[in-house]
Amino acid sequence: MKGLVLAGGTATRLFPLTIVTNKHLLPIYDRPMIYYPLDTLAGMGIREVMVIVGGKSVGDIVELLGDGRHFGLDLTYRYQRGALGIAHAIGLARDFIGDDAFCVVLGDNILRGDPLAPLARQFEDEQWGAGTLLYKVPDPERFGVAEFGPDGKVVGFEEKPKQPKSDLIPIGVYFLRPDAFDVIENLAPSGRGEFEITDVLNHFIPGGRLFAPVYEGHWADAGTVPSLLRSAEMAEEDDRAGRLPRPVERPRDPA
Ligand code: G1P
Repeated sequence: MKGLVLAGGTATRLFPLTIVTNKHLLPIYDRPMIYYPLDTLAGMGIREVMVIVGGKSVGDIVELLGDGRHFGLDLTYRYQRGALGIAHAIGLARDFIGDDAFCVVLGDNILRGDPLAPLARQFEDEQWGAGTLLYKVPDPERFGVAEFGPDGKVVGFEEKPKQPKSDLIPIGVYFLRPDAFDVIENLAPSGRGEFEITDVLNHFIPGGRLFAPVYEGHWADAGTVPSLLRSAEMAEEDDRAGRLPRPVERPRDPA
């Protein structure tokens, strides 16, 4: 499996913190935000990762992460012009992904406690078409929201609905295969002008091809001020409990 981390967007919900810098460089406790999704992928045994960058301070992201060898990763980068959405960003990785299955983690998603490797293996072994992880939240209207049929299976996802049909949301972790690129190419932008990942996931629901287990660990996105603070508190709790790995420092490049 290959990996993708999405680190574009304008992060207006974090203004003024993100007026002059990229959200993914903001600190979460003792390290930059983007370290967390990279750790998530490295923890799955994934080595080849593309970081899709966009918005402010793109050069600083590259300077921070370099070629990724200090994370045990092999990093490449691609630039996303404009904030056209998650599905659009994924579409930029088509050549990099080639024929492999891949896992996408949004650059502001912080996961802890339940490793993803077994879920990735299940996605591959059971030949699912696409996958995401569901998580219960008190404020589902801020996210994509799952709707369930009478048999308890997901029948659709709605992006930021005013009246959410459940309190389970797809978190920013997606398991996909190269056929997702054809789906993305045929997507129409949503009302907010973005190519939505929820529309990609919806495509795989008919025929029961969507893998959507509930995530049993802890999850937060750090895209708003309260959730940025909450993510830092989660990291501090982990640190006190001795569960937070030491932050990776980038060695100086040889002259
Ligand atoms: C995105 C997705 C949404 C998902 C969320 C998880 O929303 O569009 O479906 O639930 O990430 O973090 P965003 O927070 O980018 O608006």
